[in-house]
Amino acid sequence: MPSDSTKKVFIKTFGCQMNDYDSAKIKALLGKDGYEPTADPGQADLILVNTCSVREKPEQKLRSFIGEMRPHRQRGAKVGIAGCMAQHAGEQLFKRYRKDVDLVFGPDHVPQVRALVEQAQSERVLQNSFLDDDNYAFVRETTSEGRVGAFVTIQKGCDNKCTFCIVPATRGMELSRPSALIVEEVQALVAQGVREITLIGQNVNSYGLKVPGELNFAQLLYRVAEVPGLQRIRYTTSHPRDMGPDVIQAYRDLPQLCSHLHLPVQSGSDRLLRRMKRYYDRARYLDVVAQLRDARPGISLTTDIIVGFPGETDEDFEHTMSLLEAVGFEGSFSFKYSARPGTPALRLSDEPVDPARMQERLMRFQTRQQELQLAAHKRLVDQVMPVLVEGASKWDEQVICGRTSCFRMINFPGDASLAGQIVDVRITRGFTNSLRGELAESPAGA
Ligand code: 5AD
Ligand code: SF4
Repeated sequence: MPSDSTKKVFIKTFGCQMNDYDSAKIKALLGKDGYEPTADPGQADLILVNTCSVREKPEQKLRSFIGEMRPHRQRGAKVGIAGCMAQHAGEQLFKRYRKDVDLVFGPDHVPQVRALVEQAQSERVLQNSFLDDDNYAFVRETTSEGRVGAFVTIQKGCDNKCTFCIVPATRGMELSRPSALIVEEVQALVAQGVREITLIGQNVNSYGLKVPGELNFAQLLYRVAEVPGLQRIRYTTSHPRDMGPDVIQAYRDLPQLCSHLHLPVQSGSDRLLRRMKRYYDRARYLDVVAQLRDARPGISLTTDIIVGFPGETDEDFEHTMSLLEAVGFEGSFSFKYSARPGTPALRLSDEPVDPARMQERLMRFQTRQQELQLAAHKRLVDQVMPVLVEGASKWDEQVICGRTSCFRMINFPGDASLAGQIVDVRITRGFTNSLRGELAESPAGA
């Protein structure tokens, strides 16, 4: 083995923000044992794949990845599987890949990754139990040096039972992290130069409700907003049912709260929302949208949509299309329904939607969504917006990029030394997925 100082870890991450965050934590923790991240698996002493089971074809993706890593393992690298699949199907994976994989561990065991990797040097390791509240340790963000934005986990798991979703089976019951620790972490990050915090959890709006004496989510937002020097607060993900008046009021009171909300609706059809067990209907969703727009004019709304949920008729789908028009979402993630092992929706699978029809619906939705996005971006031309500069653009050294409060990516000529500052930018062009601008002369707003 190479000496400690030259150990390298390669991490491949599939899936959601939670997984990105877990991978960042894994890198930070292993960094304490001398592992440097590498983008080249050929250089790595340790190769980890952080898996996702929410949709698509996770098994195939994993199999091909493990196959590609085989030569690296043969030259001595250790290979491990982390993430939701490791939680959900740990035993099977451990057996199936007995010749290819040294380590399998679920998301609850990320905090122990250093010990697990150490153990895997001498024996194969499987660790996919759920930890109860007393034994789970949220890991502090430790790698924010030089970054403008950071994620802070406020909760793990989810107590909802949306019938399509595998998350409750992979991430376990909802557990809220104590607010005092969240605030402490935000303070530490701001002291290191972070300007924007994104609070993350599967269903942040139910934060703290199970813990006597704990702040609720709205109170947590007010508390975090008190941290001096913190300029922007975002959060994800919200459940429309739990979007209460107190959180909506926060959009009136807290200028730090960004003018963007990701509020997954999944479908515009009440019949399907019932089958999905989402516990809100279209009218309630539209009411929340109206209240949000009243509290924060110009707020940008994005969503998640599933097409082809079992039993979805043409009429149901038309309701989704009409909801897209009614809200005028500024962006969305849209997915074809994918049956997931162990989820309640499997019981509905006697009414599958024809795959060609599913594809057609997805294309129609995405095409219209892109038209709406482009039109919304063009309407912004000539407006001046405060932009938090992230750094140099990937494509052009003379150009820097950042995000508006409403989460739109904007590129404009400027110096990368502005990173971390909020500057006023005049929008000059709108594209489907981003804006182009130029620095405005007037001084920066908040
Ligand atoms: N099939 C398709 N999409 C799904 N999502 C969750 N589970 C499934 C599934 N079985 C989508 C939902 C959710 C997003 C994170 O992933 O839209 O909001
Ligand atoms: Fe899954 Fe529903 Fe929980 Fe979101 S709220 S993680 S979709 S069960």
